[in-house]
Amino acid sequence: MNTLLTLTKTYMSGRKILLPGALLLSAISSLMGILPFIFIWLIVKELLTSQTGSAQLINTYAWGALGTAVGGVIIYFLALMLSHLAAFRAETNMRRQAMQKIVQMPLGFFDSNTSGQIRKIIDDNASITHSFLAHQLPDLAGSILMPLAALVLIFVFDGRLGLACLVPIITSIMIMGFMMGTQGRYFMQAYMDSLEEMNNEAVEYVRGIPVVKVFQQTIYSFKNFYNSITKYRDMVYQYTLMWEKPMTTYTVIIHGFAYILVPVAILLIGNSENYVAILLDLFLYILITPVFAQSIMKSMYLNQALGQASEAVNRIEDLTNVKPLPESRNPKPITTHEICFKEVSFSYPGSKQKAIDNISFKIPEGKTFALVGASGSGKTTIARLIPRFWDVDTGQVSIGGKNVKDIAIKELMQHVSFVFQNSRLFKTSLLENICYGKAQTSPEAINQAVEAAQCQEIIKRLPEGLNTKIGTEGTYLSGGEQQRIALARAILKNAPIVVLDEATAFADPENEHLIQKALGKLTQGKTVLMIAHRLTSVVDVDSILVLDKGKIAEQGSHAELINKQGLYAKMWNEYQKSVQWTIGKEAKYA
Ligand SMILES: Nc1ncnc2c1ncn2[C@@H]1O[C@H](COP(=O)(O)OP(=O)(O)OP(=O)(O)O)[C@@H](O)[C@H]1O
Ligand SMILES: [Mg+2]
Repeated sequence: MNTLLTLTKTYMSGRKILLPGALLLSAISSLMGILPFIFIWLIVKELLTSQTGSAQLINTYAWGALGTAVGGVIIYFLALMLSHLAAFRAETNMRRQAMQKIVQMPLGFFDSNTSGQIRKIIDDNASITHSFLAHQLPDLAGSILMPLAALVLIFVFDGRLGLACLVPIITSIMIMGFMMGTQGRYFMQAYMDSLEEMNNEAVEYVRGIPVVKVFQQTIYSFKNFYNSITKYRDMVYQYTLMWEKPMTTYTVIIHGFAYILVPVAILLIGNSENYVAILLDLFLYILITPVFAQSIMKSMYLNQALGQASEAVNRIEDLTNVKPLPESRNPKPITTHEICFKEVSFSYPGSKQKAIDNISFKIPEGKTFALVGASGSGKTTIARLIPRFWDVDTGQVSIGGKNVKDIAIKELMQHVSFVFQNSRLFKTSLLENICYGKAQTSPEAINQAVEAAQCQEIIKRLPEGLNTKIGTEGTYLSGGEQQRIALARAILKNAPIVVLDEATAFADPENEHLIQKALGKLTQGKTVLMIAHRLTSVVDVDSILVLDKGKIAEQGSHAELINKQGLYAKMWNEYQKSVQWTIGKEAKYA
C-alpha cells in the first residue's frame, strides 16, 4: 500500500485520480463477475423447483447473466484503460525525474555508476513499475473483495457445503500467507539483488569484450559475470523448490475439490428431505469455488508483483538519492582566476583512506602548474576538485579568492575547461561537437578553433566536412583525432582556467605532436593545471607539484627539483632511462 501511495504522490502528478479510478472500476467488475453465476444458479433452480418453469423469469435471468458478464468485462476493460494510462504516466515520470536528478549529480557520481548501469537500473525498474500498474493493479481490488464475497456467499446458501468448499479457499490462503511470509519476502529481495548484480556484470562484460577477444579468453574469464549467473540460477532453483509442495497441493485441491464437495453433498442428501435444494446449492458451489480460490491465488501473484514494484521504486530512489551539489544562495561572480587549495583533504565516498591529505598550493593567474606523481597518488582527484566533481571534506578550493562552493555551478563550468585523457564525442556532426556548450558562435571563431586544434586535415578528409556525422557510415576517428576535436571544443569555449588530465596519454607520436600544438594554443594566457605522465611535457611549466600518496612531496621548477635530488629527480632519471631504453631497443631492431 505504501508503494501505491508513493507512486501516486511522487509519479502521478496532475493525474492522481487514475489509480483510485482503476481500483474502483476493477472492484465493481470483480463483484459483477460473481453475478452471472448466481443468475445461472437461479435459472437451474427455476427449472428444477418450479413445476411450470416460468419461461419469462428464466429469460430475465438469462439476460441478467449475459448482461452482468458482458458489463463486468466492459468495466474491467475501462479499469485496464485507466491503469494503463496511470502506468505510462508513472513510467514516464519515473524516467524523467530520475534523469533530472542524475543531471544534477556531482560529476564524480558517474565514476562509481557507469552509464550502462544507470540506464539499466532506470530502464528495468521503470518497466517493472509499468507492468505492475498496467497489468496487475486492476486485480488488486478484486482480490481484496473476493474472499469477503466468498465468505458471505458460502454461509448464505448452505453452511455445511460452504464449510466443505472452504478447503480449497483456505489452502490458497495458506499458500498466500506462506508467500507473504518472511521467506517469500527474503527471496523477492534476493531475486531482485541477484538480477541487478547479473545485469551490472553483463554491462561490465560487454564493455570488456574487446579485451576478452584480444586475449582469446572465454566468458569464464569474466568470473564475476559467470558467478552472478550461477548465483541467479541457484537462487531461482531454490525458489522453485520452495514452491514445489505448496503449489502441488494447491493445484490438486483446486482441480479436485469436487471430490470433497460431492461426498459431503451425498451425506447431506441422505439425511435430508429436500435433496433438490442441496443439489442446487452444490451446483452453485461447484461453479463459484474455483473463482474464489483463483482470485485468492491471483492476489498472491499480485502481492509478489507489489513487492517487486516497491523494490523497483526503492532502487530508483536509492540511485538518485545522492545529494546534488548544493548551490550557493548568494553566488559570487568570478573576477580573477588564480586557483588556491588550502589545507584540502578528501576521501571518496565509502573509502576510509584519504585520496588527498592536507594539500595546499596556489596557481597565480596566467601560470601553468603541473602535477606529477605515481599512479594513485591523487593527481586526478586534485584536478577534479576544481570544477567540483566532488566537494572537499575539509579545507577549501577557491578561484580568484572565492570558495568554489560559493560560485554558481553554471558560472564555474563556464570558467573552467576540463580535458580528459579520453574525451568523448557525441554521435552527431563534428560542428555540433565543436560548438557544444557554445551554441552562439560565428563561423570565423569555429574556423579559428579548428585551425588552432590542428583539425583542418581531419575535416578536409571527411566527405561532408564539418557536417559529417561521427559514428555513422564508417566515419570513425582515431583516439588522437577525437582528442583534437575535443580540444577544438575547449579552445572555442575559451575558458580562462584549463585543467588537463593526461590529455596526450593515448596518442601516437604523430598525433601527440599535433595535440601538443593544440594544447599550446588552448593554454595560451590561461591559468592551467596539467597532469602529464610524459615528464618531458612538464619541463617548461612554471611550477611542478610532486605528489606522493596524497601529499605534496616537493614543489618547484624543473631545474630546482632536479637540483634538489629528491623524488622528482629520481622520477626524471627513471623516465630518461625508459625513453632511452625504448629508443635503444627500437634502434636495435631497426
Ligand atoms: N571514484 C573513486 N572511488 C574511490 N576511490 C577512488 C576513486 N577514484 C580514485 N580513487 C582512489 O583515490 C586515490 C587517488 O586516485 P587518483 O585517480 O587521484 O590517482 P592518480 O594520481 O590520478 O593516478 P593515475 O596516475 O593512475 O591516474 C587512489 O588510491 C584511488 O584508488
Ligand atoms: Mg589520474
